[in-house]
Amino acid sequence: MPPIDDFISLLTAALAEGRYVKLSLKGYSGKDADLKSIDIARILIKREEKLSLTYHYKTKDIVKNHVPDEAIDMIARYLEKDFSSAILHTTDYDLTFPAMKKVQPRFKQAPPLSHDRQKHRHVDPTRPYLQALKITDSHGTVYKNAQDKYKQIDKYIEIVGGLIQGLAAGKIRHIADMGSGKGYLTFALYDYLHHVIDRPAHITGVEYRQDMVDLCNDIARKEQFKNLSFVQSSIEKFDTKSIDMLVALHACDTATDEAIYKGISANATLIIVAPCCHKQIRAEIETTRQHNDLDFLTQYGIFLERHAEMLTDGLRALILNYMGYSTKVFEFISDSHTPKNVMIVAIKEEKKKIKDPAILKSIHNAKSYFGIRYHYLEKLLDIKTA
Ligand SMILES: C[S@@+](CC[C@H](N)C(=O)[O-])C[C@H]1O[C@@H](n2cnc3c(N)ncnc32)[C@H](O)[C@@H]1O
Repeated sequence: MPPIDDFISLLTAALAEGRYVKLSLKGYSGKDADLKSIDIARILIKREEKLSLTYHYKTKDIVKNHVPDEAIDMIARYLEKDFSSAILHTTDYDLTFPAMKKVQPRFKQAPPLSHDRQKHRHVDPTRPYLQALKITDSHGTVYKNAQDKYKQIDKYIEIVGGLIQGLAAGKIRHIADMGSGKGYLTFALYDYLHHVIDRPAHITGVEYRQDMVDLCNDIARKEQFKNLSFVQSSIEKFDTKSIDMLVALHACDTATDEAIYKGISANATLIIVAPCCHKQIRAEIETTRQHNDLDFLTQYGIFLERHAEMLTDGLRALILNYMGYSTKVFEFISDSHTPKNVMIVAIKEEKKKIKDPAILKSIHNAKSYFGIRYHYLEKLLDIKTA
């Protein structure tokens, strides 16, 4: 039997009999100048077995998952044309290709299928920028006091990475991250887009604290993140004309509205905000309180706070709908990690009616029902509901 067929049938048997540990393809000589090697792991995604191919490039890794049959065909083609050698690790032996030499196995046990064993991480904790941001130590271990932050970064990347991958390639070219602070989420998004999913985009972090801007620019320079920069500016003054995605995470009170307004004005495809405090609407509720049937809720501080949060963000979503965006509002990370955990995602729908009078009526009715004279975002957009 020719070595490729022989190798593939031993690979197939190891997979079928649960002896498969991993496979590495090496000695690449194809057309893609920066590709070095591929590692292949067996994983479960939504209870379905897949082979996960990690393509190692000079400066990034790209992961692609395939059903086993499809992946095995690809591996056979790779060995025919592009890769000159391979090593298959099984629990019985390690097998080298093309020599077809069996040696003692390096691994005694097949690893548990990774997605079932532990939650899949989207942010590799060994990435150097995480050390520079003091999230991890030099071994890639997350510091105890940074665990919540790391979980938040990982969840953020899972959500936002998925949203960007759902859009046509090239749709998102410039992202503004408003109120970028220490830049944890900004760096993670940049790294993921450039080095994991190959959807490169320019990202600008906008922050009015000069010390944070300097710190982040310094790290971006050291990491050679060439299309990542931070500017000292208020959200209000930043020129967003060229952006097609806007992010504002934990920008206080009406700063979130300023950011949404900027995104809408730039006709951004994607607007993602995780609001922080909700003082403007809370003050409205307190000022216009009618002493009516809702008093039993708003007399308690905590309920008043939650009521203000729901109203503020519910109206934000409604206003975004009015401006031609479809919206999702959800808890993006458990409130045991952070209380600031609601995310609003707005996607510009080309076919959606803009300024639909029915939505305008809903905004008007909601405000009068809850005794709210105005929402700050409505003012910015000069929306007149009555
Ligand atoms: C709570 S931090 C969040 C940082 C980051 N987005 C995150 O979620 O990790 C909010 C940041 O927004 C900045 N900020 C708030 N309002 C702003 C405004 N109007 N213009 C620019 N920066 C603002 C603050 O200086 C602060 O660094």
